[in-house]
Amino acid sequence: MGCKVVGWGKALPELVVTNDDLAQIVETSDEWIVERTGIHRRHIARSETTTDLACEAGQAALTQAGYDPDSIDLLICMTITPDSVVPAESCLIKARLGLTHAVAFDLNAACSGCIYGIDMASTLIEASALSETVPAPTRPRNRYRRALVIGAERLSRIVDWTDRATCILFGDGAGAVILEWDSTAPGVLSSFLKNTDDPQLTLACDTVFGPAALPFTQEREELSVRAAAGLTDEMGALLPHHPYIAMQGQALFKFATAAIVEAAQIACERAGVSLDDIACIVPHQANERIIRYAAKKLGVPLERFQISIGEVGNTSASSVLMALTDAYQTQRIQPGDKVLLVGFGGGLTSGALVFEA
Ligand code: COA
Repeated sequence: MGCKVVGWGKALPELVVTNDDLAQIVETSDEWIVERTGIHRRHIARSETTTDLACEAGQAALTQAGYDPDSIDLLICMTITPDSVVPAESCLIKARLGLTHAVAFDLNAACSGCIYGIDMASTLIEASALSETVPAPTRPRNRYRRALVIGAERLSRIVDWTDRATCILFGDGAGAVILEWDSTAPGVLSSFLKNTDDPQLTLACDTVFGPAALPFTQEREELSVRAAAGLTDEMGALLPHHPYIAMQGQALFKFATAAIVEAAQIACERAGVSLDDIACIVPHQANERIIRYAAKKLGVPLERFQISIGEVGNTSASSVLMALTDAYQTQRIQPGDKVLLVGFGGGLTSGALVFEA
């Protein structure tokens, strides 16, 4: 018995932006981007909101599973680009999809969001199922039997479109899965989540609100996440507000490869399986070179990795769920297969999860 993946879906904005299109706005080339990242194109929202993308992916998962919105007890939306802070993105999705009975909340674990979201949902579902075996009603509380877990991002809102080092990497999109308690299937076998302090802010983005005129704030710089972390420029001044994604590419590359290897090995160990038992590995899609490097370090043939980045770029919290949907839709994942999800991201966050399909 366990918590099983029973539905999946994804959504992409209509507009496709190629590397050649990007070369029109920053100094770059298709050759450089493909060689360094494996990305050929990405989808960018023109009119689609995060809620539009999330609802399309969520509805696709409901349709695929054949479930009514009414039957969902829990909705978790992982995002760093909600349409609003209040109401939470999950509340907007809940209302639009008509998930009448769902408890809904957002989760921000940056690009590791999918792993954190699935882990939280499956933990709640398992706890609910187990509590039903305890003589009632010692601890009456909400029951979660079926969850919709959505990763949705409109990263184009927080990308600095003048910075060629970052704008070539990211795209918009959403992915979703439905998880439910199954008394006959093992479902999620293990998970491993980790947070690593990032005092140098190798990946950061200030709030999108910006340092508006605040009557009680003396220095604009105090509002910067970099200032909060005590980071200064060469002159010793606290680094100012920067409402776009900024990153130290090479440092992140090193973190990413080490994090994938660590998380994949620990999740497999905890599940009592070897990497050879895993039929399909679905990694965070940040850079194809990172995936290739991690595959080599793990000693796993690249063919067992789902690689979707070429068509969509890095879609942060949506990335693993979109790639997982690709793997299901192309029948790479068969009933009974063991699947490993692995991710890393800003925070810094990382993690992995093994489940039986
Ligand atoms: N087009 C052309 N040239 C570019 C460029 C672009 N889009 N972006 C950077 N360059 C240039 C740099 O200016 C640099 O030039 P220089 O040698 O004259 O100084 C050169 O290319 C090499 O830059 P570098 O940053 O060393 O490249 P890289 O091989 O490390 O690749 C990344 C850059 C961003 C692709 C890579 O570091 C990466 O993927 N890092 C991880 C990012 C990540 O995973 N982020 C999300 C985490 S969830």
